[in-house]
Amino acid sequence: MTRLGVNIDHIATLRQARLESFPDPVELAREAIAGGADGVVCHLREDRRHILDKDVIALRRLKTRLDLEMAATTEMLGIALKIKPDMVTLVPEKRQEITTEGGLDVVKHRRKLKPIIKKLQDRGIQVSLFIDSQHEQVEESAVLMTDFIELHTGKYARSSYIKGRKLTVKRELEKVGIAAQQARWIGLRINAGHGLDYHNVKEICRIPGIEELNIGFSIIARSVVVGMRQAVIEMRRAMR
Ligand code: PXP
Repeated sequence: MTRLGVNIDHIATLRQARLESFPDPVELAREAIAGGADGVVCHLREDRRHILDKDVIALRRLKTRLDLEMAATTEMLGIALKIKPDMVTLVPEKRQEITTEGGLDVVKHRRKLKPIIKKLQDRGIQVSLFIDSQHEQVEESAVLMTDFIELHTGKYARSSYIKGRKLTVKRELEKVGIAAQQARWIGLRINAGHGLDYHNVKEICRIPGIEELNIGFSIIARSVVVGMRQAVIEMRRAMR
């Protein structure tokens, strides 16, 4: 069974909209676990637009697997080494973007990434690189000796939202499948995520070798209607 990591950033987005102390991402993370999530994912952005440092510290205290998404910067490295999440997923970050756009270009940034990956691993933190499903990105990830890659499913997901795009959906799904196959051959472990929802998740679960999906927005949006616990139960059902 593919594992599910629930990204709880948008609980913090709601809290920060009024600069209040609620809703509390930790409380909702507990509910996600109660609904069957295998772990919690949060993205500490450089501009602190949703998740704050104190949230990461509090989430770390929960007895659950924590995946910290962050940019590959000196500041974020320092925070990760101090808080020691189970995994760090390195992502690209632009100030103006609504959400992470595109994967990290690990070929272009290999020099910067290498020492960061090593420092995290030396501290016992697993490292995942959020990349596009491209041959050279998978290959370079192996050279960088990351533990995991996370395949960016955004293009597949976006095409699946629009009716009549069957061919594009198929093509984008194939790209993810081919990248996963390549990663398996060279011994990388594989996660995937971005844009996944209750309708498009099943096809990604069918790709051999994908261990965990990281899903945020669709679950948070559903939780507004049915509550977090039920939203996660429904996602687990959709993944079966
Ligand atoms: N994986 C990564 C690396 C991300 O940056 C995000 C968004 O924060 C997700 C997964 C979850 O994406 P979504 O919110 O679209 O499910």
